[in-house]
Amino acid sequence: MSSALFSPIKLAGLPLANRIVVAPMCQYSADDGCANDWHLMHLGMLANSGAALVVVEATHVERSGRITHGCMGLYSDDNEMALARVIAQVRRLGTAKFGIQIAHAGRKGSAHRPWEGGGALKAGADPWQTMAASPIPYGENWHTPREVTEEDMERVRNGFVSAAQRALRIGFDEIELHMAHGYLAHGFMSPVSNKRTDQYGGAFENRLRFPLSIAKAVRAIVPKDIPLGARITGSDWRPDGLTPDDAVAIAKALKAEGLDFVCISSGGVTADTRTPTTPGYNVPIAARVKKEAGILTRTVGLILKPEQAEEIIAQGQADQVSLARAFLDDPHWGWHAAKTLGAEVARPPQYARAGPKLWAPAAAKA
Ligand SMILES: Cc1cc2nc3c(=O)[nH]c(=O)nc-3n(C[C@H](O)[C@H](O)[C@H](O)COP(=O)(O)O)c2cc1C
Repeated sequence: MSSALFSPIKLAGLPLANRIVVAPMCQYSADDGCANDWHLMHLGMLANSGAALVVVEATHVERSGRITHGCMGLYSDDNEMALARVIAQVRRLGTAKFGIQIAHAGRKGSAHRPWEGGGALKAGADPWQTMAASPIPYGENWHTPREVTEEDMERVRNGFVSAAQRALRIGFDEIELHMAHGYLAHGFMSPVSNKRTDQYGGAFENRLRFPLSIAKAVRAIVPKDIPLGARITGSDWRPDGLTPDDAVAIAKALKAEGLDFVCISSGGVTADTRTPTTPGYNVPIAARVKKEAGILTRTVGLILKPEQAEEIIAQGQADQVSLARAFLDDPHWGWHAAKTLGAEVARPPQYARAGPKLWAPAAAKA
């Protein structure tokens, strides 16, 4: 029986051996935006996880667009050099392709690392002025952002373009724009956080105007054979927020700008938003987006078991599955999924003896 999860797929010009993606995961461990040995170890571990594609964490387009002091950036030559060193090594030694998520934190920036308690940076912890679609804090005790001006929009858009150019020079196989989780772009799209009265607020088309301009500008410099996509919100999980209908419309608009894929995530628009905790909670939304927008669709969120991932792909609910915490728990998740589903997966030659033969009956007798 052949596995759908382990069937190949092509994203623009990028062939991938299977449908498994390691989701972007902030490590909050960079030095002024620069990747270091932690990232070498972390990404090196995931390079041989069995996932065809590993997406590097939210990497910010300007220093003040970071979430925490430990977040990664591609806003300086030092950032580029540091990440180039890490990516060259993990690509050389691993079986996975590498993508990168480029981002701006908006009103969720200037925060403590999660293990320092999260929340807004306190006085004395070098906080900075954040900005967002509207001057409304993310939640209680969060910084009040200033309203983004047209000048800011131009700078940030140029920042996305420049970060994408740096990513291309580094040799990333794909690029994903972060347009979810309440960060700057999603903050513009959602009526919960965007209360503007100019051409960037109000009607749905207006709220999409700035994020779409970023997509257009980045697409203009990313060659057609390099996949460019966006992580978007499937739902704000609030009656006054974005809905799955909106997700379909956003995906269609991004497709019209030439994007190759979307990744359906959800939640995070305000601090008190509660995201569902049921397995595969974004999958039905992804299935709608895939069918109705006709764009290559990836999804994420409590996809934990190989059989669950197999079913999502076999039923055509999504083209790729993206997993975050399951890979932290089991960095060989892809190998174990292959074993469960009777499929082949690439391994480095040094680890070949841990392959299917080990689990064959003859090996058990030996
Ligand atoms: C440690 C950690 C860091 C994360 N950082 C990012 C990030 O940089 N960008 C992003 O879009 N999502 C980020 N997420 C969210 C994950 O990509 C994913 O959407 C979420 O954890 C749900 O998937 P899961 O149930 O497979 O963990 C992060 C999640 C974790 C656990």
